[in-house]
Amino acid sequence: MQIILNGEVSPFPDAWAEEPLLFLLREHFGLTGTKYGCGAGFCGACTVILDGVPTRSCITPAADADGAEVRTIEGLAEGYRLHPVQAAWLELGVPQCGYCQSGQIMSAVALLETTPRPNAEDVESAMAGNLCRCGTYGRIRAAIARAAE
Ligand code: FES
Repeated sequence: MQIILNGEVSPFPDAWAEEPLLFLLREHFGLTGTKYGCGAGFCGACTVILDGVPTRSCITPAADADGAEVRTIEGLAEGYRLHPVQAAWLELGVPQCGYCQSGQIMSAVALLETTPRPNAEDVESAMAGNLCRCGTYGRIRAAIARAAE
């Protein structure tokens, strides 16, 4: 089995097939930017982009990603140049504890790729599944607007 992980063909052993994609990314590939929150598909901390769609990697079996393109927070920047969404996050000081933020950013990136000029409703609907215990929602919305400029 293999995935295209942040642009690189990345084979993985069949033993991972029934494990969550989240664990494959974190434990097999060592990409720990994607976080384990609830482990049940409710919080969005584990969001990655799977063939262009924001996806809860904690409830997605690795086998379901076989042959697919998987993008994680580690794949957004180009060298030292941050992705515009990351740059907006930094400029507006979005994170508080930071734990949920890679999932928040991946959902925002997926939104802006399909809807470059989202209205408030688009943003609410795209981000509704990403929870933040610190309550950074206002800054998240502002950063999405900044990135869309
Ligand atoms: Fe996957 Fe919460 S850890 S949705």
